[in-house]
This record gives sequence, structure tokens and C-alpha cells, in this order.
Amino acid sequence: MKEPVFVSPAEIAASKAAAKRVKDEVYDLGLTYHIESYGCQMNEHDSEKIAGMMEEMGYAKAEDKSKADFIIFNTCCIREHAEQRVYGNIGALKKRKDENPQLMIGVCGCMMQQKDAGRQLFKRFPFVDIVFGTNELYRFPLLFEEAYHGERTLQVRDMDGEIAEGLPVCRNSTFSTFTNITYGCNNFCTYCIVPYVRGRERSRQACDVLAEAKQLIADGYKEITLLGQNVNSYGKDLTPRVTFSQLLRQINDLPGDFRIRFMTSHPKDCTKELLDTMAECPKVAKHLHLPFQCGNDRVLKAMNRGYTAEQYLELVHYAKAKMGSALSITSDVIVGFPGETYEEFQDTLSLVKEVGATSLFTFIYSPRQGTPAAKMDDPVSHKEKARWMAELLALQEQISAEQMQLHRGETFKCFVSGKGKLGDNYVAARTDGNLIIEFEGDDSLIGSFQNVKVIEPLTYVLRGELERN
Ligand code: 5AD
Ligand code: SF4
Repeated sequence: MKEPVFVSPAEIAASKAAAKRVKDEVYDLGLTYHIESYGCQMNEHDSEKIAGMMEEMGYAKAEDKSKADFIIFNTCCIREHAEQRVYGNIGALKKRKDENPQLMIGVCGCMMQQKDAGRQLFKRFPFVDIVFGTNELYRFPLLFEEAYHGERTLQVRDMDGEIAEGLPVCRNSTFSTFTNITYGCNNFCTYCIVPYVRGRERSRQACDVLAEAKQLIADGYKEITLLGQNVNSYGKDLTPRVTFSQLLRQINDLPGDFRIRFMTSHPKDCTKELLDTMAECPKVAKHLHLPFQCGNDRVLKAMNRGYTAEQYLELVHYAKAKMGSALSITSDVIVGFPGETYEEFQDTLSLVKEVGATSLFTFIYSPRQGTPAAKMDDPVSHKEKARWMAELLALQEQISAEQMQLHRGETFKCFVSGKGKLGDNYVAARTDGNLIIEFEGDDSLIGSFQNVKVIEPLTYVLRGELERN
């Protein structure tokens, strides 16, 4: 694998210089921005970087979207539904732009990186000022500067992708946050558009990840989620090689009271060493988001997933043996991959029963232009797939409820994240496995770890009681 390519410090400096020039121009105008983010946590984190750059350009976050001076859509193209929503929302801004020509509008993210999509959108919506792809993120201030001076700007480069260090980040939360460890994906699952819009897999240097983690801990963050399309293959492109397990151990060894999360794990690269590491590192949340997508071996092969249902189960059994009831497993599942039969779908249901996941993220297959699966025969109707989906959801609901019952009487170390919904005097906390526990407690507990005992499992939330030390 080739070494990751970094954006040069000179290019980052040029981008920062553009931000400074914009700031000098707008500093006393009180301008505001609003970011509309679609899709996964990776995109959400990119939006935090866009926010960081906006603030460097002297813009403040708009309290009210309808009053923002700059609106940017950070798009997602993983499924068709996400795309349709974006088009609808951009179209709805035309009237506002007619009324207020000063309003600036931007569109960026994965959808713009698809073949011709950026160019077409630029043409179709002439009131959009800036369009750029995922490879352009670090250059955003340069593009913004041009657009601010009245020049509509379109930038989408088709390339393998680089790593840009040193971008400003304006984080949405003060206690729970993300950091990328890898970008891009090399797996080319046949249904998936991500490798085409996010480029080749590349790892950040361990020293950069560690420095950021240290800073986040010093800033008071209590939960750090390590992000990558396939975190398990972290470091394959680094010399000397650093494995994901080694990286986890190094972060776990940093001083401070915090929790480490990570996503997404790919079953084909998930090693027993990683599961041992999770079990052995007290700061690593015992939560494994390990998408199996499907339970039928023929379909898994057609998806190019690189494992069988049996191999997946072997990992799950190993993880459960190592981490016991502390472990929470979640997964993504695709229903109705082209050519999948109802009999084959039954294998997914069987796997769902055996895995006993806390929750599932379920999707009906959505053809993505340019992927191999989009060219496969897909004879089953959407209506029929929706029926299969309902079956899957009913089964998982029952399993999730059973899982919740298992926790009655258990005590969890939880992170108290905000106000609860069960009553005025309740606060809400999250377990390692992302279960929500609500308990009666003072607002001053928000932002801290507490031990909470489960009193009553409700449908989607556990009711608990603060355990006094
Ligand atoms: N159709 C439906 N679901 C998809 N996913 C990715 N591509 C598609 C598609 N074309 C799902 C997978 C993946 C999750 C992020 O989105 O389950 O794990
Ligand atoms: Fe898409 Fe597969 Fe890569 Fe995940 S691992 S981003 S599903 S290609």
C-alpha cells in the first residue's frame, strides 16, 4: 500500500491566509453561517471543520437559519433518499435568494464528488455560489473568498485523496466528539458509493491522532469517537506499521477520565487481537459496531464483503466470551440486495437471532450509479422488500427488548449527557453500549461519569437510579 499523501503546510497556510483576508473584510458586518449536514458521523465531523473555517473567516454560527448570511449543504449520497432531500432543500432556497441577493449558498460533500454531479448541480441551481467536492475541504476559504467577491465557484477534483492536518474545528459538543483516524475506503463493497467519493483508504499518523486526543482530553472532552470507514485497517499504509489495536492502547494509556469509541469495524479485518484490546483497555467502550449487512453467504459474496456468516458469528462469540454482558453489538443490515431471494433473506433473520444485537441500522438496498451492484438484475419489487424489512424490524424489536431486560439490576458506568425525558428531574446518561439510562439527578451531573443501577427497562430507555459511592 502506498504511503498517505499530505496536503503541504504551504497549501494549508494559503488557505488560512484566504480565511484571514475574508475576516479582515467582513469583521464588522456581523455575518452568520448555517451548515446543513446530511449522512454519517464522518460528514458531521467535516461540517465541524467547515464551521471552524467559517469562524476563522469571521462568521458566527447563526442562531436562526432563516437569518443566516451563508448556508452550506454538506451532502451525502449513500442512498437515494439522502440525495432527494438535498435537492428539495436547495430548491427551496431560490425564493430567499431572490428576496436577498446577498445570501450566499454552498453545496459540498460526497454527493458533489460523484461523476458530473457537481457540474450538473451548478448548472441546475444558478443561485448556488459555491460547489466543491470532498477533496477540496481544506481549500474552502480560497473558494469562499472568490465567491464572496461575486465569482461563482465550482471545484471537484477526481483524485485518490489526501490528508489535511491543522484545519480548525468548531465542535458541536463540549464533552463528546470525533476525530478521524482514516479517510476513504478500499473495500469496494459492490453496493457502496463511498470508495468512489471518499477516495483511497489513508491513515493519519499515530502521532497526529495522539496529539489531537491529548488536546481534546485537556479541553475536557469525555468521549472521543475514532472515525474511519474501516477502522480495523488503520495503519496498513504507515511505516513503521501501527495497528489499530496499538493505536487504541496508546490512546487508552493517556492520563485522564475519558471514554474511547470507534466506528466502523469491518468483519473481514476485525482481529481477535482487537477484541482482546477492547476487553483489556478500561477506557475503550465495550461497543462494537460490526456491520454484517446480510446473513447469506451467496449474497455476502456478491456484495464482496470478504467473510461468511459463520466467520462473522465466530467473531461475535469470541467478543462475547471476552467481554460478557458488558459488550454491546450493533450492526448495519441491507435488505433486498439485487438478486436476493426471500429464502436467502431468511438467513439474515437467523443471523440477527444469533447475534443478539442491541440495535440495528437497517436499509433497503438503494442502487448507486457507478457501483457494480447497480448493474445487477434486481427483480424483487420495492414493496416486497419493504415487507421483508418489516419482518426484520419486528424481530429486532423483540431482541432489543430482550436485551434491555437482561440489564435489570445491573450497574453501568455512564456518561451523563443531558436532560432526561421521563420527568423534569431526570437526566439522561449513555452506557458504553450506547444504551440510554435516565435517572433522577441534578443537572450538575451533566458532563460527568456516574454509576447508575438499572431499575426498570422500558422500551427504548432504561430507568435507573444513581448509585452513591
Ligand atoms: N443501499 C442501501 N444501504 C447502503 N449502505 C451503503 N450503501 C448502501 C446502498 N447502496 C449501508 C450499509 C453501510 C451503511 C453505512 O449504509 O449498510 O454499512
Ligand atoms: Fe462502503 Fe464497504 Fe467501504 Fe463500508 S466498507 S464504506 S460499506 S465499501
